[in-house]
Amino acid sequence: MRLISLLFFLFTTLYSQSALYEKGRELYFEKACNGCHGVKAEGMTNYPSLANRAKGFLTFKLKNYRKGIVQTQAQQMMISFAKPLSDEDIDALTSYLHDFIDEQKEFYNPSYETWGDGGS
Ligand code: HEC
Repeated sequence: MRLISLLFFLFTTLYSQSALYEKGRELYFEKACNGCHGVKAEGMTNYPSLANRAKGFLTFKLKNYRKGIVQTQAQQMMISFAKPLSDEDIDALTSYLHDFIDEQKEFYNPSYETWGDGGS
């Protein structure tokens, strides 16, 4: 009986984690985070990369931005994006970002690789 409840516990935690990941992914695009931080959360120019970074750090930053606490002028841009986020939204977003998996890379077929000098 103990084994069954352990399995049940494992299953529900694993399942709820992937549900959180999905919710985070939806929020990431719905809230237009991708517009600055990139579709793969890889970052762009002055916008930092967010993929696979510590959940605690991302949570800390987002909660500070939500309170209007920033260290630099560039970060002020984040306040209006963080303000509407609930604690649950932040939990989902940071879970997604921390666990981020590049699905395109996962399915990348190396036979498409073009070798050579690029035709120059
Ligand atoms: C208009 C562009 C823009 C959008 C949209 C945007 N961000 Fe940002 N984000 C920034 C800038 C600029 C910074 C601060 C960079 C710095 O510290 O110099 C930042 C910083 C962050 C940081 C802290 C990262 C670090 O290294 O300090 C997190 C986390 C973050 N953004 C998450 C999000 C999330 C989640 C969303 C969507 C709700 C979002 N951002 C939408 C521009 C944007």
